[in-house]
Amino acid sequence: MNRTLTVETSKKVGEEVVLKGWVNARRNMGKIVFLDLRDRAGIVQVVGVPAELDEASQEKLKTVRPEWVVEIRGVVNARGAKQQNPEMPTGMVEVLAKELIILNEALTPPFEIDKDTKIISEELRLKYRYLDLRSERMQKNIRMRDKIITFFREYMHRNAFLEIETPILMKGTPEGSREFIVPSRLHKGQFYVLPQSPQQFKQLCMVAGFEKYFQIARCFRDEDQRGDRQPEFTQLDFEMSFVTQEDILKFTEEMFIDLVKQVAPQKKISEQPFPRLTYAQCLEKYGTDKPDLRKNKEDKDELAFCWIVDFPMFEKDETGNIAAKHHPFCSIKVGDENLLDTDPMSVRANAYDLVLNGFELSSGSIRIHLPEMQKKIFDLLKITPEEQQARFGHMIEAFTFGAPPHGGFAPGIDRIAMILCDEQNIREVIAFPKTGDARDLLMGAPSSLPDKALGEANIKIK
Ligand code: AMO
Repeated sequence: MNRTLTVETSKKVGEEVVLKGWVNARRNMGKIVFLDLRDRAGIVQVVGVPAELDEASQEKLKTVRPEWVVEIRGVVNARGAKQQNPEMPTGMVEVLAKELIILNEALTPPFEIDKDTKIISEELRLKYRYLDLRSERMQKNIRMRDKIITFFREYMHRNAFLEIETPILMKGTPEGSREFIVPSRLHKGQFYVLPQSPQQFKQLCMVAGFEKYFQIARCFRDEDQRGDRQPEFTQLDFEMSFVTQEDILKFTEEMFIDLVKQVAPQKKISEQPFPRLTYAQCLEKYGTDKPDLRKNKEDKDELAFCWIVDFPMFEKDETGNIAAKHHPFCSIKVGDENLLDTDPMSVRANAYDLVLNGFELSSGSIRIHLPEMQKKIFDLLKITPEEQQARFGHMIEAFTFGAPPHGGFAPGIDRIAMILCDEQNIREVIAFPKTGDARDLLMGAPSSLPDKALGEANIKIK
Protein backbone atom coordinates (compact mmCIF):
# COMPACT_ATOMS: atom_id res chain seq x y z
CA MET A 1 0.00 0.00 0.00
CA ASN A 2 1.33 3.45 -0.91
CA ARG A 3 2.36 5.75 1.87
CA THR A 4 0.03 8.63 2.74
CA LEU A 5 1.48 11.90 4.06
CA THR A 6 0.00 13.24 7.30
CA VAL A 7 -1.57 16.28 5.61
CA GLU A 8 -3.35 14.10 3.07
CA THR A 9 -5.36 12.31 5.79
CA SER A 10 -7.89 15.18 5.96
CA LYS A 11 -9.14 14.19 2.52
CA LYS A 12 -9.25 10.46 3.23
CA VAL A 13 -11.96 10.03 5.90
CA GLY A 14 -13.10 6.41 5.98
CA GLU A 15 -10.06 5.14 4.07
CA GLU A 16 -7.27 2.89 5.24
CA VAL A 17 -3.82 4.53 5.07
CA VAL A 18 -0.18 3.75 5.78
CA LEU A 19 1.72 6.56 7.48
CA LYS A 20 5.46 6.74 8.08
CA GLY A 21 7.29 9.21 10.27
CA TRP A 22 8.45 10.19 13.74
CA VAL A 23 6.50 10.15 16.99
CA ASN A 24 6.27 13.84 17.82
CA ALA A 25 4.50 13.34 21.15
CA ARG A 26 2.86 10.57 23.14
CA ARG A 27 -0.12 10.99 25.47
CA ASN A 28 -1.46 8.16 27.63
CA MET A 29 -5.19 8.19 28.46
CA GLY A 30 -5.58 5.00 30.45
CA LYS A 31 -5.23 2.17 27.98
CA ILE A 32 -5.64 4.44 24.97
CA VAL A 33 -2.48 6.05 23.67
CA PHE A 34 -2.47 9.14 21.44
CA LEU A 35 0.54 9.54 19.19
CA ASP A 36 1.22 12.71 17.20
CA LEU A 37 2.88 11.41 14.07
CA ARG A 38 5.17 13.83 12.25
CA ASP A 39 6.46 13.63 8.70
CA ARG A 40 7.86 16.16 6.25
CA ALA A 41 4.38 17.51 5.56
CA GLY A 42 3.03 17.98 9.08
CA ILE A 43 1.45 16.15 12.00
CA VAL A 44 -1.59 13.95 12.45
CA GLN A 45 -3.07 12.45 15.60
CA VAL A 46 -3.01 8.65 15.77
CA VAL A 47 -5.19 6.83 18.27
CA GLY A 48 -3.88 3.55 19.66
CA VAL A 49 -6.67 1.42 21.14
CA PRO A 50 -5.36 -2.03 22.22
CA ALA A 51 -8.56 -3.81 21.09
CA GLU A 52 -8.04 -2.55 17.52
CA LEU A 53 -4.45 -3.80 17.27
CA ASP A 54 -2.84 -7.22 16.81
CA GLU A 55 -0.82 -8.54 19.73
CA ALA A 56 2.61 -7.52 18.45
CA SER A 57 1.38 -3.98 17.78
CA GLN A 58 -0.16 -3.76 21.27
CA GLU A 59 3.29 -4.48 22.77
CA LYS A 60 4.93 -1.88 20.54
CA LEU A 61 2.32 0.71 21.49
CA LYS A 62 3.39 0.29 25.12
CA THR A 63 7.05 1.04 24.38
CA VAL A 64 7.02 3.56 21.54
CA ARG A 65 8.49 6.93 22.55
CA PRO A 66 8.99 10.41 21.01
CA GLU A 67 11.35 10.49 18.03
CA TRP A 68 11.02 6.78 17.31
CA VAL A 69 10.46 6.12 13.61
CA VAL A 70 7.28 4.18 12.94
CA GLU A 71 5.00 2.87 10.25
CA ILE A 72 1.30 2.90 11.09
CA ARG A 73 -1.54 1.27 9.20
CA GLY A 74 -4.89 2.66 10.24
CA VAL A 75 -8.24 4.10 9.28
CA VAL A 76 -8.90 7.82 8.99
CA ASN A 77 -11.88 8.93 11.10
CA ALA A 78 -13.55 12.30 11.42
CA ARG A 79 -13.09 13.70 14.93
CA GLY A 80 -16.11 14.38 17.10
CA ALA A 81 -17.14 18.04 17.31
CA LYS A 82 -15.48 18.48 20.73
CA GLN A 83 -12.19 16.90 19.63
CA GLN A 84 -11.71 19.03 16.54
CA ASN A 85 -8.66 21.31 16.45
CA PRO A 86 -9.04 24.06 13.84
CA GLU A 87 -5.44 25.21 14.55
CA MET A 88 -4.05 22.04 12.92
CA PRO A 89 -4.34 21.33 9.17
CA THR A 90 -5.28 17.74 10.12
CA GLY A 91 -7.30 18.85 13.16
CA MET A 92 -10.62 17.53 11.84
CA VAL A 93 -9.44 13.91 11.60
CA GLU A 94 -7.50 11.25 13.47
CA VAL A 95 -6.12 7.88 12.45
CA LEU A 96 -7.26 4.79 14.34
CA ALA A 97 -4.22 2.50 14.35
CA LYS A 98 -4.62 -1.10 13.15
CA GLU A 99 -0.94 -2.02 12.97
CA LEU A 100 2.21 -0.45 14.38
CA ILE A 101 5.70 -1.22 13.07
CA ILE A 102 8.80 0.23 14.69
CA LEU A 103 11.29 1.22 11.97
CA ASN A 104 13.86 2.57 14.41
CA GLU A 105 14.14 3.48 18.06
CA ALA A 106 15.61 6.76 19.35
CA LEU A 107 17.41 7.84 22.49
CA THR A 108 15.73 10.57 24.47
CA PRO A 109 16.76 13.73 22.57
CA PRO A 110 18.92 16.28 24.45
CA PHE A 111 16.11 18.84 24.09
CA GLU A 112 12.41 18.81 23.27
CA ILE A 113 11.78 18.89 19.55
CA ASP A 114 8.02 19.38 19.70
CA LYS A 115 8.58 22.87 21.19
CA ASP A 116 10.29 25.96 19.73
CA THR A 117 14.01 25.28 20.26
CA LYS A 118 14.89 28.99 20.43
CA ILE A 119 15.14 28.83 24.23
CA ILE A 120 17.65 25.95 24.10
CA SER A 121 21.37 26.76 24.33
CA GLU A 122 22.71 27.36 20.85
CA GLU A 123 25.76 25.13 21.46
CA LEU A 124 23.45 22.20 22.09
CA ARG A 125 21.24 23.03 19.12
CA LEU A 126 24.22 23.21 16.79
CA LYS A 127 25.85 20.04 18.11
CA TYR A 128 22.60 18.18 17.45
CA ARG A 129 21.56 20.28 14.48
CA TYR A 130 19.82 17.33 12.78
CA LEU A 131 17.46 17.21 15.77
CA ASP A 132 17.05 20.97 15.96
CA LEU A 133 16.13 20.91 12.27
CA ARG A 134 13.27 18.51 13.03
CA SER A 135 11.50 21.27 14.98
CA GLU A 136 8.58 23.02 13.32
CA ARG A 137 10.15 26.48 13.14
CA MET A 138 13.42 25.22 11.67
CA GLN A 139 11.60 23.07 9.12
CA LYS A 140 9.59 26.14 8.11
CA ASN A 141 12.71 28.31 7.81
CA ILE A 142 14.64 25.85 5.68
CA ARG A 143 11.62 25.30 3.45
CA MET A 144 11.20 29.09 3.10
CA ARG A 145 14.85 29.37 2.10
CA ASP A 146 14.27 26.75 -0.59
CA LYS A 147 11.26 28.73 -1.86
CA ILE A 148 13.34 31.90 -2.05
CA ILE A 149 16.16 30.18 -3.95
CA THR A 150 13.68 28.49 -6.29
CA PHE A 151 11.99 31.83 -6.92
CA PHE A 152 15.31 33.51 -7.78
CA ARG A 153 16.42 30.69 -10.09
CA GLU A 154 13.15 30.77 -11.99
CA TYR A 155 13.09 34.57 -12.14
CA MET A 156 16.61 34.69 -13.51
CA HIS A 157 15.94 32.02 -16.12
CA ARG A 158 12.71 33.72 -17.16
CA ASN A 159 14.77 36.85 -17.78
CA ALA A 160 17.32 35.07 -19.98
CA PHE A 161 20.10 34.78 -17.39
CA LEU A 162 22.40 31.77 -17.58
CA GLU A 163 23.48 29.98 -14.40
CA ILE A 164 27.23 29.50 -14.59
CA GLU A 165 29.26 27.81 -11.85
CA THR A 166 32.53 29.55 -11.13
CA PRO A 167 35.52 28.01 -9.31
CA ILE A 168 35.72 27.52 -5.57
CA LEU A 169 39.50 27.06 -5.74
CA MET A 170 40.91 30.30 -7.07
CA LYS A 171 43.86 32.63 -6.93
CA GLY A 172 44.44 34.79 -3.89
CA THR A 173 43.62 38.36 -4.91
CA PRO A 174 42.27 40.04 -1.80
CA GLU A 175 39.45 42.41 -2.79
CA GLY A 176 38.55 43.41 0.72
CA SER A 177 38.05 40.66 3.26
CA ARG A 178 40.57 38.10 4.45
CA GLU A 179 40.51 34.93 2.36
CA PHE A 180 40.49 31.29 3.41
CA ILE A 181 43.67 29.62 2.19
CA VAL A 182 43.92 26.13 0.66
CA PRO A 183 47.41 24.63 0.29
CA SER A 184 48.26 22.87 -2.95
CA ARG A 185 49.58 19.29 -2.69
CA LEU A 186 50.85 19.19 -6.27
CA HIS A 187 52.52 22.60 -6.18
CA LYS A 188 54.60 22.81 -3.05
CA GLY A 189 54.48 26.17 -1.29
CA GLN A 190 51.59 27.38 -3.44
CA PHE A 191 48.02 28.06 -2.44
CA TYR A 192 44.52 28.44 -3.69
CA VAL A 193 42.03 30.61 -1.84
CA LEU A 194 38.27 30.26 -1.54
CA PRO A 195 36.30 33.01 -3.32
CA GLN A 196 34.96 35.86 -1.18
CA SER A 197 32.52 36.27 -4.05
CA PRO A 198 32.56 35.32 -7.74
CA GLN A 199 33.21 39.00 -8.55
CA GLN A 200 36.12 38.54 -10.96
CA PHE A 201 34.71 35.42 -12.61
CA LYS A 202 31.35 37.05 -13.24
CA GLN A 203 33.08 39.98 -14.89
CA LEU A 204 35.11 37.52 -16.97
CA CYS A 205 31.80 35.87 -17.97
CA MET A 206 30.82 39.27 -19.42
CA VAL A 207 34.09 39.44 -21.35
CA ALA A 208 33.22 35.93 -22.54
CA GLY A 209 30.04 37.28 -24.11
CA PHE A 210 27.35 35.61 -21.98
CA GLU A 211 25.79 39.05 -21.25
CA LYS A 212 23.51 37.76 -18.45
CA TYR A 213 25.08 35.58 -15.75
CA PHE A 214 23.75 34.47 -12.41
CA GLN A 215 24.70 31.98 -9.75
CA ILE A 216 23.42 30.90 -6.36
CA ALA A 217 26.96 31.38 -5.18
CA ARG A 218 28.66 30.22 -2.02
CA CYS A 219 31.12 32.83 -0.74
CA PHE A 220 33.82 32.48 1.91
CA ARG A 221 35.27 35.19 4.12
CA ASP A 222 37.60 34.79 7.05
CA GLU A 223 36.20 37.69 9.04
CA ASP A 224 34.85 38.26 12.51
CA GLN A 225 31.33 36.92 12.91
CA ARG A 226 28.13 38.80 13.71
CA GLY A 227 24.46 37.92 13.70
CA ASP A 228 24.22 38.72 10.02
CA ARG A 229 27.62 37.28 9.03
CA GLN A 230 28.88 33.75 8.52
CA PRO A 231 32.27 32.61 7.23
CA GLU A 232 30.43 30.95 4.36
CA PHE A 233 27.22 32.37 3.00
CA THR A 234 25.19 32.46 -0.18
CA GLN A 235 24.56 35.22 -2.70
CA LEU A 236 22.24 35.52 -5.63
CA ASP A 237 25.14 36.79 -7.71
CA PHE A 238 24.35 38.36 -11.07
CA GLU A 239 25.96 40.44 -13.79
CA MET A 240 24.72 41.99 -17.02
CA SER A 241 26.37 43.60 -20.04
CA PHE A 242 25.26 46.79 -21.81
CA VAL A 243 23.22 48.03 -18.85
CA THR A 244 23.00 51.22 -16.88
CA GLN A 245 22.75 51.51 -13.10
CA GLU A 246 19.11 52.41 -13.63
CA ASP A 247 18.49 49.10 -15.48
CA ILE A 248 19.93 47.09 -12.58
CA LEU A 249 18.00 48.99 -9.92
CA LYS A 250 14.73 48.61 -11.84
CA PHE A 251 15.28 44.90 -12.53
CA THR A 252 16.19 44.19 -8.89
CA GLU A 253 13.33 46.23 -7.47
CA GLU A 254 10.74 44.41 -9.59
CA MET A 255 12.29 41.08 -8.62
CA PHE A 256 12.06 41.82 -4.88
CA ILE A 257 8.48 43.05 -5.14
CA ASP A 258 7.57 39.83 -6.94
CA LEU A 259 9.54 37.73 -4.42
CA VAL A 260 7.56 39.16 -1.52
CA LYS A 261 4.29 38.65 -3.37
CA GLN A 262 5.13 35.03 -4.15
CA VAL A 263 6.79 33.75 -0.99
CA ALA A 264 5.67 36.08 1.82
CA PRO A 265 2.36 37.65 0.75
CA GLN A 266 1.52 38.56 4.37
CA LYS A 267 4.37 41.11 4.33
CA LYS A 268 3.79 44.69 3.28
CA ILE A 269 6.36 46.80 1.47
CA SER A 270 6.15 50.26 3.06
CA GLU A 271 7.08 52.34 0.03
CA GLN A 272 7.08 51.67 -3.72
CA PRO A 273 9.04 52.57 -5.72
CA PHE A 274 11.73 51.97 -3.08
CA PRO A 275 12.98 55.32 -1.75
CA ARG A 276 16.42 56.36 -2.92
CA LEU A 277 19.04 58.23 -0.97
CA THR A 278 22.54 59.16 -1.92
CA TYR A 279 25.22 57.90 0.45
CA ALA A 280 25.93 61.50 1.52
CA GLN A 281 22.23 62.28 2.18
CA CYS A 282 21.82 59.03 4.06
CA LEU A 283 24.77 59.64 6.39
CA GLU A 284 23.62 63.17 7.04
CA LYS A 285 20.01 62.21 7.74
CA TYR A 286 20.44 58.85 9.53
CA GLY A 287 24.11 58.67 10.51
CA THR A 288 24.40 55.26 8.86
CA ASP A 289 24.38 53.78 5.36
CA LYS A 290 21.95 51.07 6.52
CA PRO A 291 18.94 53.04 7.74
CA ASP A 292 15.92 51.21 9.12
CA LEU A 293 13.07 53.09 7.46
CA ARG A 294 10.17 51.08 8.92
CA LYS A 295 7.32 53.27 10.08
CA ASN A 296 6.48 50.81 12.84
CA LYS A 297 9.47 48.82 14.04
CA GLU A 298 7.18 46.54 16.06
CA ASP A 299 5.38 45.37 12.92
CA LYS A 300 7.15 42.18 11.84
CA ASP A 301 5.37 42.26 8.50
CA GLU A 302 6.63 45.67 7.43
CA LEU A 303 9.39 45.65 4.82
CA ALA A 304 11.15 48.97 4.29
CA PHE A 305 13.46 48.66 1.30
CA CYS A 306 15.64 51.56 0.27
CA TRP A 307 18.36 52.23 -2.24
CA ILE A 308 21.59 53.93 -1.30
CA VAL A 309 23.39 55.26 -4.37
CA ASP A 310 26.52 57.27 -5.20
CA PHE A 311 28.84 55.54 -2.75
CA PRO A 312 32.29 57.07 -2.52
CA MET A 313 34.87 55.11 -4.52
CA PHE A 314 37.45 55.23 -1.74
CA GLU A 315 37.63 55.26 2.03
CA LYS A 316 40.42 55.27 4.59
CA ASP A 317 41.05 51.89 6.25
CA GLU A 318 41.84 51.42 9.99
CA THR A 319 45.49 52.31 9.35
CA GLY A 320 44.55 55.50 7.49
CA ASN A 321 45.47 54.10 4.07
CA ILE A 322 43.29 54.61 1.03
CA ALA A 323 41.10 51.57 0.25
CA ALA A 324 38.20 50.77 -2.09
CA LYS A 325 34.83 51.38 -0.39
CA HIS A 326 33.09 48.53 -2.29
CA HIS A 327 35.82 46.93 -4.38
CA PRO A 328 38.36 48.20 -6.92
CA PHE A 329 36.24 47.23 -9.96
CA CYS A 330 33.56 49.93 -9.55
CA SER A 331 33.37 52.57 -12.27
CA ILE A 332 33.44 56.28 -11.53
CA LYS A 333 30.39 58.52 -11.79
CA VAL A 334 30.37 60.65 -14.92
CA GLY A 335 31.72 64.07 -13.98
CA ASP A 336 33.84 62.79 -11.08
CA GLU A 337 36.69 61.35 -13.18
CA ASN A 338 38.64 64.61 -13.13
CA LEU A 339 38.64 64.49 -9.31
CA LEU A 340 40.64 61.25 -9.37
CA ASP A 341 43.88 63.22 -9.58
CA THR A 342 42.96 66.18 -7.44
CA ASP A 343 40.62 64.90 -4.71
CA PRO A 344 40.20 61.11 -4.88
CA MET A 345 38.38 60.87 -1.53
CA SER A 346 35.46 62.87 -2.95
CA VAL A 347 35.13 60.68 -6.08
CA ARG A 348 31.81 58.87 -6.29
CA ALA A 349 31.38 55.43 -7.82
CA ASN A 350 28.48 53.99 -9.78
CA ALA A 351 27.95 51.81 -6.73
CA TYR A 352 24.70 51.10 -4.93
CA ASP A 353 23.31 49.11 -2.01
CA LEU A 354 19.87 47.74 -1.30
CA VAL A 355 18.96 48.05 2.37
CA LEU A 356 16.02 46.34 4.08
CA ASN A 357 14.86 47.11 7.63
CA GLY A 358 18.35 48.28 8.59
CA PHE A 359 20.27 45.39 7.01
CA GLU A 360 22.48 45.68 3.95
CA LEU A 361 20.88 43.15 1.60
CA SER A 362 23.04 43.69 -1.40
CA SER A 363 25.83 45.66 -3.02
CA GLY A 364 26.68 46.21 -6.63
CA SER A 365 28.08 48.58 -9.19
CA ILE A 366 28.62 49.36 -12.82
CA ARG A 367 32.16 48.13 -13.38
CA ILE A 368 35.23 49.45 -15.02
CA HIS A 369 35.68 47.83 -18.45
CA LEU A 370 38.61 49.87 -19.74
CA PRO A 371 42.08 48.59 -18.86
CA GLU A 372 43.61 52.06 -18.45
CA MET A 373 40.94 53.12 -15.97
CA GLN A 374 41.35 49.88 -14.00
CA LYS A 375 45.10 50.48 -13.78
CA LYS A 376 44.51 54.04 -12.64
CA ILE A 377 42.28 52.85 -9.78
CA PHE A 378 44.90 50.29 -8.74
CA ASP A 379 47.53 53.07 -8.85
CA LEU A 380 45.38 55.25 -6.61
CA LEU A 381 45.00 52.30 -4.24
CA LYS A 382 48.81 52.31 -4.06
CA ILE A 383 49.10 48.89 -5.68
CA THR A 384 52.43 48.90 -7.52
CA PRO A 385 52.44 47.97 -11.24
CA GLU A 386 54.25 44.71 -10.36
CA GLU A 387 51.66 43.85 -7.75
CA GLN A 388 48.83 44.81 -10.13
CA GLN A 389 50.27 42.43 -12.65
CA ALA A 390 50.69 39.63 -10.10
CA ARG A 391 47.27 39.99 -8.48
CA PHE A 392 45.00 41.34 -11.18
CA GLY A 393 46.95 40.97 -14.45
CA HIS A 394 44.32 38.56 -15.75
CA MET A 395 41.57 41.19 -15.30
CA ILE A 396 43.49 44.01 -16.96
CA GLU A 397 44.47 41.67 -19.80
CA ALA A 398 40.85 40.48 -20.24
CA PHE A 399 39.74 44.11 -20.53
CA THR A 400 42.12 44.54 -23.50
CA PHE A 401 40.16 41.96 -25.51
CA GLY A 402 36.88 43.78 -26.02
CA ALA A 403 35.26 43.82 -22.58
CA PRO A 404 31.69 45.15 -22.84
CA PRO A 405 30.37 47.74 -20.40
CA HIS A 406 28.83 45.72 -17.56
CA GLY A 407 27.52 45.79 -14.02
CA GLY A 408 25.80 43.65 -11.44
CA PHE A 409 24.56 43.01 -7.99
CA ALA A 410 24.68 40.32 -5.29
CA PRO A 411 21.81 40.05 -2.78
CA GLY A 412 22.71 37.97 0.28
CA ILE A 413 20.26 35.08 0.42
CA ASP A 414 20.84 34.39 4.13
CA ARG A 415 19.84 37.92 5.10
CA ILE A 416 16.77 37.89 2.85
CA ALA A 417 15.67 34.55 4.31
CA MET A 418 16.33 35.80 7.85
CA ILE A 419 14.04 38.81 7.40
CA LEU A 420 11.29 36.93 5.55
CA CYS A 421 11.35 34.25 8.30
CA ASP A 422 11.11 36.92 11.07
CA GLU A 423 14.43 35.77 12.52
CA GLN A 424 17.14 37.89 14.18
CA ASN A 425 20.14 35.81 13.11
CA ILE A 426 21.12 34.22 9.81
CA ARG A 427 22.06 31.01 11.66
CA GLU A 428 18.31 30.38 11.98
CA VAL A 429 17.95 30.08 8.21
CA ILE A 430 21.10 28.07 7.41
CA ALA A 431 20.82 24.31 7.77
CA PHE A 432 24.32 23.75 9.12
CA PRO A 433 25.80 27.09 10.20
CA LYS A 434 28.98 27.87 12.09
CA THR A 435 29.02 29.31 15.61
CA GLY A 436 29.89 32.92 16.37
CA ASP A 437 33.56 31.87 16.50
CA ALA A 438 33.37 30.02 13.18
CA ARG A 439 33.20 26.47 14.48
CA ASP A 440 31.06 23.61 13.24
CA LEU A 441 30.01 21.93 16.47
CA LEU A 442 28.25 19.05 14.75
CA MET A 443 31.26 17.67 12.88
CA GLY A 444 33.88 19.41 14.97
CA ALA A 445 35.50 21.67 12.41
CA PRO A 446 38.05 23.13 12.25
CA SER A 447 40.10 20.17 13.45
CA SER A 448 43.71 19.07 13.43
CA LEU A 449 44.88 16.67 10.72
CA PRO A 450 47.14 13.63 10.87
CA ASP A 451 50.83 14.31 10.11
CA LYS A 452 50.53 12.31 6.88
CA ALA A 453 47.80 14.60 5.53
CA LEU A 454 49.77 17.69 6.56
CA GLY A 455 52.92 16.28 4.96
CA GLU A 456 51.11 15.65 1.68
CA ALA A 457 49.88 19.23 1.69
CA ASN A 458 53.45 20.38 2.45
CA ILE A 459 52.41 21.94 5.75
CA LYS A 460 54.44 22.18 8.94
CA ILE A 461 52.67 23.58 12.00
CA LYS A 462 54.68 26.38 13.67
P1 AMO B 1 29.36 42.44 -0.79
O1 AMO B 1 30.67 42.10 -0.18
O2 AMO B 1 28.77 43.74 -0.37
O3 AMO B 1 29.48 42.52 -2.38
O4 AMO B 1 28.34 41.28 -0.50
C1 AMO B 1 27.03 41.32 -1.06
C2 AMO B 1 26.01 40.80 -0.07
O5 AMO B 1 26.38 39.52 0.45
C3 AMO B 1 25.94 39.40 1.80
N1 AMO B 1 27.10 39.15 2.69
C4 AMO B 1 27.09 38.29 3.72
N2 AMO B 1 26.11 37.51 4.20
C5 AMO B 1 26.40 36.71 5.25
N3 AMO B 1 27.61 36.63 5.84
C6 AMO B 1 28.64 37.40 5.39
N4 AMO B 1 29.85 37.30 5.95
C7 AMO B 1 28.40 38.28 4.28
N5 AMO B 1 29.15 39.17 3.58
C8 AMO B 1 28.34 39.68 2.62
C9 AMO B 1 25.27 40.70 2.17
C10 AMO B 1 25.90 41.65 1.19
O6 AMO B 1 25.09 42.78 0.94
N6 AMO B 1 30.95 41.00 -5.35
C11 AMO B 1 30.22 42.01 -4.62
C12 AMO B 1 28.86 42.26 -5.23
C13 AMO B 1 28.87 43.04 -6.52
O7 AMO B 1 29.55 44.09 -6.58
O8 AMO B 1 28.16 42.63 -7.46
C14 AMO B 1 30.05 41.56 -3.18
O9 AMO B 1 30.30 40.44 -2.80
O10 AMO B 1 23.87 40.55 1.95
